[in-house]
Amino acid sequence: MAEERLDRLMSRLGYGSRRDVGYWIRLGLIEVAGKAAKSANQKVDADDVLLEGKPLDHPHGLTVIYHKPLGRVCSRKEDGNLVYKDFPERWLGRKPPFNSVGRLDKETAGLLIFTDDGQLNHKLTSPKHAISKTYAVTLARPVTDDAVLRLASGTLMLEDDVKPCLPAELTIIDAHHVQLVLHEGRYHQVRRIFAALGNHVEALTRTHIARLSLLETNLEAGQWQDLTADALWQRLLHPSSV
Ligand code: URA
Repeated sequence: MAEERLDRLMSRLGYGSRRDVGYWIRLGLIEVAGKAAKSANQKVDADDVLLEGKPLDHPHGLTVIYHKPLGRVCSRKEDGNLVYKDFPERWLGRKPPFNSVGRLDKETAGLLIFTDDGQLNHKLTSPKHAISKTYAVTLARPVTDDAVLRLASGTLMLEDDVKPCLPAELTIIDAHHVQLVLHEGRYHQVRRIFAALGNHVEALTRTHIARLSLLETNLEAGQWQDLTADALWQRLLHPSSV
């Protein structure tokens, strides 16, 4: 692993300012390769550093799958009931930033990925990979028979959009409950699709991203699990490789 200045490393992992790191060194709280750290600017291998006897938190990147509860907001900026409440506070200070891959609305629950890996984020959102997302939808009014064909046709226009939605798979469970698989991500897409069909979404949960199922993760609302970018990719492609 490449070596890096100790203060830069710890500040970009969200531990505190470079000044804080200097202070912790003076207090003897940091060890590097088994010896007390000497100076904030010494070059270190992240795996050799201990703070108060503990290894650094995800020094080589951070990716998690998360069960977003209803009511939490996907934002770093606003005050209020933010998804970041469910993660260690330090993670908000990391650089590169630890961001969600796309967003879920405040009133949507379900599976969401967070990562500080820009390439992975891009791969998961780029139209080239067309990662599917599956939603369980509760509707205010009975679903109409033509909805399946209209969604499959790739001609459904949403208000204010210039292109029709890509073909999507709608499965009717009963009059008020459907499953919808989308292959693109647009703002409030599921709610806008059902508005365009003259209906209204009463409850919405994202149950899958590609082949990774929320149920199989065993995550309760508000819980997360960390995994490597490679392990995540495997789980998106092969659901049984847990
Ligand atoms: N579509 C929506 O309308 N909301 C979401 O949160 C996700 C997809």
